[in-house]
Amino acid sequence: MPADPQNEPHCGPRHVAIIMDGNGRWAQARGRPRLYGHHAGARRVREVVEACPGLGIKYLTIFAFSTENWKRTQVEVAGLMSLFKRYIIKETRTLAQNGIRVRFIGDRVRLDAKLIELMDTLERETAENDLVHLTVALNYGGRDEVARATKRLARDVAAGNLRPEDVDEETLPRYLDTRVLPDPDLVIRTSGEARISNFLLWQSAYSEYEFIDTLWPDFTAAELERLCKSFGSRERRFGAVPA
Ligand code: FPP
Repeated sequence: MPADPQNEPHCGPRHVAIIMDGNGRWAQARGRPRLYGHHAGARRVREVVEACPGLGIKYLTIFAFSTENWKRTQVEVAGLMSLFKRYIIKETRTLAQNGIRVRFIGDRVRLDAKLIELMDTLERETAENDLVHLTVALNYGGRDEVARATKRLARDVAAGNLRPEDVDEETLPRYLDTRVLPDPDLVIRTSGEARISNFLLWQSAYSEYEFIDTLWPDFTAAELERLCKSFGSRERRFGAVPA
């Protein structure tokens, strides 16, 4: 397994989350169908994952498909689902060999059985890895995640495993899809839109944000490095006053 430079002290973000936006516009600017942009976007994922160890990024979370993305045309949705399958089949070996642990967050109920099987296999085959933790948000929505978490929590209360008076800020995160992950330090959104679109709503309460104009298929490791450096110069106070 490759060495882990992230054990060195550094002041960059440990957990980076990315809203990979702009694939459609990137394709349209080239007179190509939107799916062409998604394929180009998928190729960017590898470059970004590979850059993580060198930048001290231990956790990378990417927004691949939202609970709202089902509103797109049937052609685009089907094309994205087939892209996810092809991507998993193509990348499983490389990810496993390169020390990347992959997890999926989001609701699996609407996903097809073959895709779920591939997701399970990828999670299983990379379960021993620890160099970079890559989390793919697929059929993910922050509100949906909180609603599903609340349902599980309510079941525990109903079953007598949890007392309502014991519920506090530490309780709900234990029921979220992200329960084993730290909160993101830095959330990046590409393509010039300045909104969070239902991504990691609970977890990003104190994240730093970067909204950049680059369309996702043009995003590079060099740009990620620049954003990590800029993060290092920010003072994060979490509501407190400067020391
Ligand atoms: C947003 O761009 C992008 C998506 C909804 C899909 C993101 C998917 C990928 C980058 C593909 C690969 C991912 C993995 C994990 C293999 P948009 O279509 O909203 O672009 P637009 O705003 O220009 O229309």
